[in-house]
Amino acid sequence: MKMQIQTRLVVLGVLTAGLLFSAPQSEAIQLTGYPLEHAPINLTDTASLQRGARTFVNYCMGCHTLQYQRWSQLGKRLHLDHQALRELMFLQTKPTQMMTNAMPVQEATRWFGAAPPDLSVIVDQKGSNWVYTYLQSFYVDPSRPTGVNNAVFYRVAMPDPFWQTQGLQRIVYRRVRHNGYLVNQFVKFVPVTKGTLSPRAFRRQVGDLTNFLAMVSHPDELKRIHLGIWVIAFCVVFTILAYALKREYWKDVHRKHPHGK
Ligand code: HEC
Repeated sequence: MKMQIQTRLVVLGVLTAGLLFSAPQSEAIQLTGYPLEHAPINLTDTASLQRGARTFVNYCMGCHTLQYQRWSQLGKRLHLDHQALRELMFLQTKPTQMMTNAMPVQEATRWFGAAPPDLSVIVDQKGSNWVYTYLQSFYVDPSRPTGVNNAVFYRVAMPDPFWQTQGLQRIVYRRVRHNGYLVNQFVKFVPVTKGTLSPRAFRRQVGDLTNFLAMVSHPDELKRIHLGIWVIAFCVVFTILAYALKREYWKDVHRKHPHGK
């Protein structure tokens, strides 16, 4: 038993040393040539929004809030019945409360070096593609207090929320000359540990989450889509009516003056 623990410690030590000394891949760097990925936003996909809300509550709400979003409103927008909403908001007491958490800002700043911002309008601020890419772009970096860095948010203070479902990855880049400066150009990510989700399932997890955050950022978008459909339907019906009326109106005129006289 004792032997086993020692063996494990040695393995752990070797792994840590491996990470520490596998520089330059894992030193803190600022990157070029790292493209944003296109986020799969579809605000009419209720199942996706529901999955995204669940991921947000489980993975993000410990640190982040949605201070303009009421639980009860969320339930309505996601078509959740009372029971489903209760399950989603396991930490909260009243559905009329806002989606906030109990983390004091000062403490958070002390723990992470930066306060986790409210995410109510993050998709408006940064764009859905940025959020989608950011959440997939953490990589191992032992020089950071959290052990990770991020390819679109250099020296980020947030730990990787998906280190288990995605698995850890390390970064490979090359130094190139760009306008006379040496810059680090992104080459690829290489998996370090295996995620509990397949790469495809992980992308869906992050896609649904981004979709959910997009919905929170654009509270009236869905209403606008539905309203738009009605407006167009009205225009079509009105055009048909107007045409019928015009025919009816001119019928007599044409009959009395068949050759336009
Ligand atoms: C352990 C706490 C913690 C958890 C869990 C966490 N974050 Fe963060 N997050 C932070 C901190 C701290 C920052 C501020 C980073 C900085 O300024 O360097 C941050 C920053 C962000 C930003 C960038 C905000 C900006 O203004 O640029 C986004 C987007 C974000 N988090 C999304 C998420 C999402 C989505 C989840 C859930 C999957 C999540 N975070 C989970 C602590 C956390």
